[in-house]
Amino acid sequence: MASSFHKGFIRAPTIFFVMLYVVTSIRQQETITVAYPSLDPCSNYTVLDEPWRASRNQSSVYYMCDGCVTWSGWYRLFINSLNAQIPDTCIVQYSCGTDIPLWIRGGHPRVQDGVVTRDVCGHWNNDCCYNGSYPIKVKACPGNYYVYELISPTKCSAYCAVKNITLPEGCTEQTTLKCLQNLLEQIENITAQELPVNTVVDILNTVFNTTEKILESLSTASPAELASYGNRVLKASEKLISTLVKPTATNDSVSFTLAALDVEVFMVGPNVTLEKIPQLETTNSSVDIDLIGIAKNNNKTRSAAVAFMSYVTMMEKLLKPDFFKTLNNTIKTMMSTVISATLPKTTNTTLTKPVNFTFRHIREFDPSGSLSCVYWNISEWIVDGCSVLKTNSSYTVCSCVHLSTFALIMQTSRPRESDPLLELLNLVCVIVGLVFFSLALLTFALCQWSPGVNNEARINICISLLLAHLLFLLTQQFLSLIRRQQVLCAVISGLLHFLFLSGFVWMFIEGVLLFICVKNLSQISSKKRKVLSTGFLCVIGYVVALVVVCVSVGLVPDGYGSEHCWIKLDNVWSFLGPVCVILALNMILFVCIIIWLNLSLTKLNADVSQLKKNKVMVFKTLAQFVVLGCPWILGFFINGSKELEIIFLILNSQQGTFIFLIYCVLNNEVRQQYRKFFRCLCCGHKKD
Ligand SMILES: *[C@@H]1O[C@H](CO)[C@@H](O)[C@H](O)[C@H]1NC(C)=O
Ligand SMILES: *[C@@H]1O[C@H](CO)[C@@H](O)[C@H](O)[C@H]1NC(C)=O
Ligand SMILES: *[C@@H]1O[C@H](CO)[C@@H](O)[C@H](O)[C@H]1NC(C)=O
Ligand SMILES: *[C@@H]1O[C@H](CO)[C@@H](O)[C@H](O)[C@H]1NC(C)=O
Ligand SMILES: *[C@@H]1O[C@H](CO)[C@@H](O)[C@H](O)[C@H]1NC(C)=O
Ligand SMILES: *[C@@H]1O[C@H](CO)[C@@H](O)[C@H](O)[C@H]1NC(C)=O
Ligand SMILES: *[C@@H]1O[C@H](CO)[C@@H](O)[C@H](O)[C@H]1NC(C)=O
Ligand SMILES: *[C@@H]1O[C@H](CO)[C@@H](O)[C@H](O)[C@H]1NC(C)=O
Repeated sequence: MASSFHKGFIRAPTIFFVMLYVVTSIRQQETITVAYPSLDPCSNYTVLDEPWRASRNQSSVYYMCDGCVTWSGWYRLFINSLNAQIPDTCIVQYSCGTDIPLWIRGGHPRVQDGVVTRDVCGHWNNDCCYNGSYPIKVKACPGNYYVYELISPTKCSAYCAVKNITLPEGCTEQTTLKCLQNLLEQIENITAQELPVNTVVDILNTVFNTTEKILESLSTASPAELASYGNRVLKASEKLISTLVKPTATNDSVSFTLAALDVEVFMVGPNVTLEKIPQLETTNSSVDIDLIGIAKNNNKTRSAAVAFMSYVTMMEKLLKPDFFKTLNNTIKTMMSTVISATLPKTTNTTLTKPVNFTFRHIREFDPSGSLSCVYWNISEWIVDGCSVLKTNSSYTVCSCVHLSTFALIMQTSRPRESDPLLELLNLVCVIVGLVFFSLALLTFALCQWSPGVNNEARINICISLLLAHLLFLLTQQFLSLIRRQQVLCAVISGLLHFLFLSGFVWMFIEGVLLFICVKNLSQISSKKRKVLSTGFLCVIGYVVALVVVCVSVGLVPDGYGSEHCWIKLDNVWSFLGPVCVILALNMILFVCIIIWLNLSLTKLNADVSQLKKNKVMVFKTLAQFVVLGCPWILGFFINGSKELEIIFLILNSQQGTFIFLIYCVLNNEVRQQYRKFFRCLCCGHKKD
């Protein structure tokens, strides 16, 4: 018939011809439909979705009754746009908002089983199949969903629907790895392009709660396994979040905060008027991205979306900072939350500008550590393409030229494992040093010295250093106890600072006294002598050190109380600075003294024996200066070398021994007195 029309109107105006062609095409199509009335139910079904199902859950007043519904043909069930199915195990009475919830007996078919028949059962009165059985047709469809040919149930009962994405049976009581695997697989199988926020929130909560529960059992997993779970959880959340992206003409955003993660989604469309999108902010991190530029690059849609996720600390247990492999063997600490940034449903994801992430440090920043902005590439954290833009003690800005999952990792050097032998050596050395300090002190105080010998400075050097070493020894022995008291620890480190410094100041005073002595003792007027009296020296010796400590406390209030109750590393110059100044001044003094001595030698009338004495004195003081000062300089260069550390330890602890050797053992007068003393001791012994 169509072709005869065609022939008859072959010379008719074109417009008429076209109209008729359209009419005939439609008629042809209708003919085909009529010719094949029953299509595959997998492509011809009615959708039952929220609020149809959801309204039932809220009805506590009246019960749903599917018997009153006129059913016809095949149905596919959804809950909040998520695939749902009729349960195939007995379900709790009164659930699904009805008296007698209906489920199907015999399980769901597979795709290759085609259309099957299943009995429908209702749960009533402790009978799981109370309502007898009336069969319905069920078919599994490719794409992991089912269609049902529903019919009116006989009693006032209703078909139940359960979300496809639920924890498998038994997983709420005992969560195992299998539960998480199943859950993740279900999410991987989701085909929905868009989901409501509520649904996404529900699933994300389930995923993270399940992950949290099995973290314990994952603690024994191999790194590869951990990384693989981390990847799957990341992928699942990225996929779910991407379903929140909906087409928009201008711009739109979605954000929510869960216990396990913060989410921000921002979409822009072709008619966007913004110059630049606002910073996407979560509690502990934020991102700057040129989404407008990216949207412009998408010629076809002129739209783009960015999803920004910030995971709480749980994620770092899967994507451990140890997955950051570096050449040096350092301790890696996660300094930020793990974040992900993606461009979902955006065709051209090329970045027009680097993205900038601002991380708030979630742990205390160790100034000696080094920070790295890293991204996750399936199996490890790597730096490629990311760099630290700027940093301060509480924030770091990272810049990256691509998107994925990022974090900020701090590397600190590994504290050396304590060496018991080294500790014993330290203990013995320090005790020996202390004994000799005490002996030297006794000798200075009790021996009779020839007039003109001024032991003032030496006694005070010994007192300061003796106390300092004693305090240091006690602190190190009870470190674990003391460290708990942060204030005590800080006070001790301040006291140590003061004692060691005053030792050095006294050393300088000794140099000055020597200089005066060498220059010409007899020329010192009584007024000058008075100036150099004990009280005045004490004021200088101790007050200078005290002032330095006070200034240091004022400038860097929390510079004291390191791990070893010593000055913190960033404040160490408050000690080394004055020490270096004193060492330099002393050096100059000695050069002057030696020049002066040489000049005196050329004078014929000089008192040769006095000169000789002075020379010996100068060399002794020089030796003392080298012995007391140089270990600290050596201390600079330790830097992990064990040999240097042992040398430092011995030199530093034996200061007392050296002083004793130089001033007591190598001094004729003192040696004689010792001999006398020992003879007396022996005599007394014999007399007994
Ligand atoms: C879908 O199936 C119903 C009955 O099952 C039928 O009436 C209808 O014509 C079908 N629709 C199409 C487009 O085939
Ligand atoms: C996911 O889909 C695959 C293939 O379609 C199927 O074999 C698997 O059972 C599905 N997994 C779940 C948990 O539904
Ligand atoms: C997940 O855990 C949180 C608290 O631990 C709880 O409030 C929430 O209801 C849980 N969500 C799910 C889906 O189990
Ligand atoms: C990130 O910082 C760099 C350097 O300051 C800047 O060139 C770039 O434009 C910034 N990116 C964004 C998206 O603001
Ligand atoms: C690790 O080594 C690199 C170069 O080899 C160096 O730049 C970096 O500072 C080292 N990091 C630490 C924490 O020692
Ligand atoms: C943000 O960081 C603080 C520590 O700085 C932490 O206590 C808090 O849990 C973090 N919040 C989120 C959502 O990550
Ligand atoms: C991740 O980085 C490693 C080391 O740079 C590289 O060998 C590997 O191919 C990368 N993997 C991916 C998926 O990019
Ligand atoms: C650190 O940097 C952040 C952002 O760059 C800034 O908001 C904060 O005030 C800075 N803090 C300090 C102590 O400088």
